[in-house]
Amino acid sequence: MNYTAVIAGIAIIFFTLTASKTKDAPKTAASISFSKDVMPVLTKKCLDCHTTEDESSNHFNVDTYEALIKDSKHGPSILPGKGEKSMIITKMRGTADFGSRMPKRGSLVPDSVITIISKWIDQGAKKN
Ligand code: HEC
Repeated sequence: MNYTAVIAGIAIIFFTLTASKTKDAPKTAASISFSKDVMPVLTKKCLDCHTTEDESSNHFNVDTYEALIKDSKHGPSILPGKGEKSMIITKMRGTADFGSRMPKRGSLVPDSVITIISKWIDQGAKKN
């Protein structure tokens, strides 16, 4: 019996086991919450102008989740799975091809916060 082959075999089994253990470790991609991470930003920065009580701002409303996912003048503001392509994000980043950068009045939403909202949309824009 070839000793080296046996040792090599054991080593291979050992490495395979360790590798599969690492692969099976739970993924901890933080899930972003609509009610905790998204809604408070919209309420603070957008609700003044975007409310169902005043439809003059292109019928885009942030009163509730249901109002938010409804189409506004230029169609859906949220495309589940496509954060950076969603109108709510392009309007805040200032890259939409119409109108002003949002919020139209007051300080801009920080890039890092826009990215959180964009990720929430990437994760399916759920009412979570
Ligand atoms: C001071 C009022 C005001 C505030 C605050 C404001 N908006 Fe607007 N928003 C408008 C007006 C007016 C329009 C229509 C003209 C335009 O597109 O620039 C608009 C248009 C939009 C549209 C386009 C809707 C469509 O279908 O045409 C989106 C999306 C939007 N706003 C998102 C936001 C977001 C997100 C915030 C908060 C971060 C925000 N807005 C804050 C006034 C406001």
